[in-house]
Amino acid sequence: MKKVLLTLAAIIIVCNLMMVSSCSKSNEADLAADTTGTGGSSCDTVNMKYATNVQPIISSYCYGCHTTGAASGGVALDSYAKLKAQVDNGNLIGVITHASGYPAMPQGGSKLSDCNINIIKDWINRGTQNN
Ligand code: HEC
Repeated sequence: MKKVLLTLAAIIIVCNLMMVSSCSKSNEADLAADTTGTGGSSCDTVNMKYATNVQPIISSYCYGCHTTGAASGGVALDSYAKLKAQVDNGNLIGVITHASGYPAMPQGGSKLSDCNINIIKDWINRGTQNN
C-alpha cells in the first residue's frame, strides 16, 4: 500500500513539473511574439516609426554604401531628411522591392526580408514621419 501511495505521489510530482515547464515555454513564445522587428516567426508592422523601426534596418543594410561621406550613386541615407528624399522620389520602394527600372538594393546582397520591407512600407503609408 505504501508503495502505491509513493508511486502516486511521484506521478503527481512529475505531472506538476511537466505543467510548470510547458507553462513557462508558452510564456516564452508569447514574449517572442510581442517583439518588434527583424527575425523570428512574428513580424509586427503596425505603427512603425522612423527612429525605432526603420532607421535600424537602413543602418544595418544600407549605411555600408550610403552615408554622407561615402554616398554610392550620389545617394546618402544616413538622416531622416536624406531617407525621406528617396521616399518622395519613389526610389526607396523601387530599390528595396527590386522593381523593374530600379537598381536592386542592397547592391550585391540579398533582398531585405518581407518583414523589413513591410515595416518600411507601413512607415511610408503613415506619412513618412520623423518619429
Ligand atoms: C554594396 C553597396 C551598396 C549597398 C549595401 C546598398 N547600396 Fe544602394 N546603391 C549602391 C550603388 C553603387 C548605387 C548606384 C547604382 C546605380 O545607379 O546603378 C546605389 C543606388 C541606390 C539608390 C538610387 C537608385 C536610383 O534609381 O538612382 C538608392 C535609393 C539606394 N541605392 C538605396 C539603397 C538602400 C535602401 C539600401 C539598403 C537596403 C542600399 N541602397 C544598399 C550601392 C549600395
